Amino acid sequence: MFRTHTNGALRASDINTEVTLAGWVQKSRDKGFMIWVDLRDRYGITQLIFDEERTDKALMEKARTLGREFVIQIEGTVIERSSKNPNIPTGDIEILVTQLEILNEALLPPFTIEDQTDGGEDVRMKYRYLDIRRNPVKNSLIFRHRVTMEVRKYLSDQEFIEVETPYLIKSTPEGARDFVVPSRMNEGEFYALPQSPQTFKQLLMVGGMDKYFQIVKCFRDEDLRADRQPEFTQIDCEMAFVEQEDILNMFEGLTRHLLKEVNGVEIGDFPRMQYDDAMRLYGNDKPDIRFGMEFGELNEVAQHKDFNVFNKAELVVGIAVPGGNSYTRKEIDKLIDWVKRPQVGALGMVYCRVNEDGSFKSSVDKFYDQQDLAQWAKVTGAKAGDLICVLSGDASKVRPQLSALRMELAERLGLRDPKVFAPLWVVDFPLLELDEETGHYHAMHHPFTSPKPGQIELLSTDPGAVKANAYDLVLNGNEIGGGSIRIHDKETQALMFDYLGFTPEEAKAQFGFLMDAFQYGAPPHGGLAFGLDRLVAILGGQETIRDFIAFPKNNSGRDVMIDAPAPIDEAQLEELHLKLRA
Ligand code: AMO
Repeated sequence: MFRTHTNGALRASDINTEVTLAGWVQKSRDKGFMIWVDLRDRYGITQLIFDEERTDKALMEKARTLGREFVIQIEGTVIERSSKNPNIPTGDIEILVTQLEILNEALLPPFTIEDQTDGGEDVRMKYRYLDIRRNPVKNSLIFRHRVTMEVRKYLSDQEFIEVETPYLIKSTPEGARDFVVPSRMNEGEFYALPQSPQTFKQLLMVGGMDKYFQIVKCFRDEDLRADRQPEFTQIDCEMAFVEQEDILNMFEGLTRHLLKEVNGVEIGDFPRMQYDDAMRLYGNDKPDIRFGMEFGELNEVAQHKDFNVFNKAELVVGIAVPGGNSYTRKEIDKLIDWVKRPQVGALGMVYCRVNEDGSFKSSVDKFYDQQDLAQWAKVTGAKAGDLICVLSGDASKVRPQLSALRMELAERLGLRDPKVFAPLWVVDFPLLELDEETGHYHAMHHPFTSPKPGQIELLSTDPGAVKANAYDLVLNGNEIGGGSIRIHDKETQALMFDYLGFTPEEAKAQFGFLMDAFQYGAPPHGGLAFGLDRLVAILGGQETIRDFIAFPKNNSGRDVMIDAPAPIDEAQLEELHLKLRA
């Protein structure tokens, strides 16, 4: 047997047992007459001891040659430790080694393989296999496994069938750019990697699968952020013969199950919020509702004086920062600089202190008296000791700016506790979204989403007002899932493509297969997809998904370990009919 136990297994009850262990040398301490070695594997650390009195000389010498991260196998006897370590499960025992085999030597690792490492992000990514030996990364991957196991268990129990769909497909319009794969056998033609299995899962509903899910890789060529990777994983789901309510209930059930099984947190019914309310109250379609600081719209109470900045603004809107009156002038100036950073983009910020005695002191006292400011406090819900922060301008710009400020302040105030979970359904999304640059409407979710019943007529008169049967699941201010009830008849789907600016020929060329399928008895259907990486990260109390992916890409979309993407050789280019022109 290669090993009788793992390095996390042995306890005081095993004393006197003869064991064989294998693993990596975490560290060794040589006191001359005694050598201790910490032996590590996935399961834990077991202390080995070699001592002059009980270990023969040759073995002592061999133990002295061990370097960090050497891979070894030992035989020995479990003995009681003289100085116990209550911090690790194996802390009561150690192994008096009788045999030592060096299975593989190791170069000195480029960073310390400890929970708190000295390695920066770049070097850890280059040697990700060493990073994975560290507890924080290893535990995140194990955590991810637990979540996916619970997902599979829950959905299987609900009679969902996991079906794999192809990766070499045609473009799916989820709003990002496609990654494309040239076809060797079909000159000048390309596959696209799926941005999601959207059309396939709808075809599975036409195929009568009724309840489908798949834990599946999706590929999107878009700008990367902490919560976005070019390849990421979805828990993709679809159901037939359902209404929106059935879907919300089913996946609320799944999320509640995960919170309970994985985090030990019981949560009641998830609140639901209209998209329009989310935008009005939080300036954001994925509000973090772990804390208040709701927006107060101040147009009515701030546009009656001579302050032109407010008077010419489409929207004047503020938030009350709890305890914010304690900020010094300098701190408030810094906050103003913060909202003026290009990433936020506000032109400035007006503020109003609410003093302990209930009086007000604002940065625009020239224009507003105490009565006016009392109105601001009323609208924003500010109390004595708070600070009211006010932004103004175009609604579509000011809302995200104030939302960014709200999140930043909440972070600074410690209101974003990762152990508190506040899920929320955002419902009734608009069907279409205006692209400011082109002046064209495009589907806000995707073009297969159905308008709310009775609203299709609005498409020709007021397209921006049409609401969809589309919903997002938000957890702690992150969009962890989204979906919709689909169009399931050819005519409506053709109409949608028409409104989205596809000619009938283009629609047929790109999505003819789906519209054809709709003619052969497509059931009403709908679904949603969770972003698994995001879900796992948030359940794990973090917002950076990279930490929960074994081999992630960096912000330029590179895998720095294998050095991809990379050029391919001339012959391969030629074979793919991609010979670059001179
Ligand atoms: P959507 O585009 O909203 O919907 O994607 C579903 C969920 O996937 C996650 N997500 C990402 N995670 C990491 N990196 C990315 N680049 C990334 N992009 C998206 C988000 C998001 O909520 N086919 C539809 C689903 C449906 O209608 O059923 C779809 O893909 O958490």
